[in-house]
Amino acid sequence: MCGIVGYIGTQTATEILLSGLEKLEYRGYDSAGIATVLEGDIHCVRAKGKLYNLREKLERENPAQIGIGHTRWATHGKPEEYNAHPHMDMAKRVAVVQNGIIENYRELREELKQLGHDFRSDTDTEVIPHLIAEFLSINSRPQKEHVATLPLAILSPVGATDTFLNGGGIVGSLVGIRDEGGSSRPKVLSPNSPSLFLEAVRQAVNKLEGAFAIAVICADYPDELIIARQQAPLSIGFGQGEFLCASDTLALVAHTRAVLTLENGELARLTPLGVEVYSFAGDRLKKHPRTLNWNPITVEKQGFRHFMLKEIHEQPGVVRAVLEAYLENDWNSAESSKMPIQLGLPIELYADLEQIQIIACGTSWHASLVGKYLLEQLAGIPTTVHYASEFRYAPPPLTANTLTIGVTQSGETADTLAALAMDKERRRSQLPQYQSRLLGITNRPDSSLAALVPQIIATHAGIEIGVAATKTFIAQLLTFYCLALDLSYRRRTLSLKRLEEIINGLRQLPAEIEMILEVQERYIQELTPQFADTQDFIFIGRGINFPIALEGALKLKEISYIHAEGYPAGELKHGPIALLDSKVPVVAIAMPGSVYEKVISNAQEAKARDARLIGVTPMNDPEASETFDNLIPVPAVEELLSPILTVIPLQLLAYHIAARRGLDVDQPRNLAKSVTVE
Ligand code: AGP
Repeated sequence: MCGIVGYIGTQTATEILLSGLEKLEYRGYDSAGIATVLEGDIHCVRAKGKLYNLREKLERENPAQIGIGHTRWATHGKPEEYNAHPHMDMAKRVAVVQNGIIENYRELREELKQLGHDFRSDTDTEVIPHLIAEFLSINSRPQKEHVATLPLAILSPVGATDTFLNGGGIVGSLVGIRDEGGSSRPKVLSPNSPSLFLEAVRQAVNKLEGAFAIAVICADYPDELIIARQQAPLSIGFGQGEFLCASDTLALVAHTRAVLTLENGELARLTPLGVEVYSFAGDRLKKHPRTLNWNPITVEKQGFRHFMLKEIHEQPGVVRAVLEAYLENDWNSAESSKMPIQLGLPIELYADLEQIQIIACGTSWHASLVGKYLLEQLAGIPTTVHYASEFRYAPPPLTANTLTIGVTQSGETADTLAALAMDKERRRSQLPQYQSRLLGITNRPDSSLAALVPQIIATHAGIEIGVAATKTFIAQLLTFYCLALDLSYRRRTLSLKRLEEIINGLRQLPAEIEMILEVQERYIQELTPQFADTQDFIFIGRGINFPIALEGALKLKEISYIHAEGYPAGELKHGPIALLDSKVPVVAIAMPGSVYEKVISNAQEAKARDARLIGVTPMNDPEASETFDNLIPVPAVEELLSPILTVIPLQLLAYHIAARRGLDVDQPRNLAKSVTVE
């Protein structure tokens, strides 16, 4: 979580940093801060709460041309100004912003305290500027004094340590660094290290454990911005005589399309003259920027009150975009030599496939449950869906010929990435049939996920700003339909006629979503005053619509703060029914198909307990009109395709309830769009 941004160039840094932070505010918004170097000093301004509080506090005239900024989602320490980033060392010469978690900050803090450091915040981050300042100071001392400090473990980089001095100046250092296996080996660094500041940051990051991305400035090195990445995203933007860095390329596109994403274990030195990239071991690396091909207009509200509402309304276009990307245009069952779906995946991914395991979090986990239904019912492949955070620490026994799919819209979710990496690692030493086959489904093909897995299916939803996922969920569902249909075609588990029927049904969906948005939105809006005092909601569905009940409940709770639970309708009577009375509305998804009558019966059971019943049902359904107190009808489609339609009214219901309560729909409390910490 947290967004970091940095600038060095010829323009005034503050405004550029602020507008970058605006683009990153989705990552965290409980406090923000900016530090610049001007006339030999660091100027640091921080404010609790949203970015506009920081904007108000900033001095008008600050012509500094280098700076760093941060928008925070609190991990360690309350969201107060004293915990806001940037953090500085005691002498206020080094300022650091960080995204991630420094797991060994307690040990580092204790050791630094023994060296006389005082800390002003409760954060894990604050150890970093202190550490860098300590390395800057020790590297500049004569060798004798340096050696005298060695008994403290903190100052001896992992493994053997020594520093070569030449006439009082450092020409190179012999340090131990951690190699991949965790053991230590000494390494002689280049005698021409370009900067003591870079070297101090390099030494410091080798001391940090955890997942982090940092940007650092130093009052004594006004022409250098040093950044580093370890398991948290960080990209560099190459402008005209200026360079930027940011947690997300979203904050860079207004300035440049030439972007370089750092990889784990890399740091970079940005100066007005250029960018140098190094490994944490100190080796200079050759890297080339790539060109982004997005349009910045996609991140404006375009007249909608909130991004979330705009994104709900973009869904017909998103469905069209996914189908256009992956369906063969003129395929029909009579011309079966052509492949109906074109995902561009290599044939080896499908060979002898026996199992699929899907790893995801939150809304992506809900989309994966729909995916499981489709993969099992259409392609006949046993599929399991795991919470990434659980999978990491209790993985199921290894299965052979298994495709592992990581689903994450951001491509940056720490739990999902770590679970995928763990599964890849544990399969490495196994027999060939157990080797990992990894596939990612993401809306950000330029994300960390893409670096981790060899194959990606892009979901083509366009950038989503609202913290509550809407259009990216629909896009994930569509991608699963395409994958399941592709597999069923290849495995011959569906007749070509049936395949054609489903594909034709998919093609109708954009117009059907448009109809829901046109016809139902006003009705849903008019319904919301009736929930002004509601404190609990229950959502029920069965079969392929059970995950939609979960998603409806998640949407409502995350943006309206109303307690909401989703259940398989048949489970209601096994406990949750005890919660029901006239104050608890029950939203039931009842679409024609294998479980329609069952859901109606389950809804009746709730009605008998005085619950108010809201039905997401097919249009013109007499049975539904008799059962439900309120109907939010959707076009009558076959059950298999219905989740794409039934989720729309639930998104609208959550949105209008929250908007009516005057809540910050796009940036709900305590949440962040990209969850880059464990
Ligand atoms: C969705 O509304 C949530 N904000 C959240 O559950 C989200 O889906 C989850 O954090 C996973 O994110 P990802 O898809 O980017 O991995």
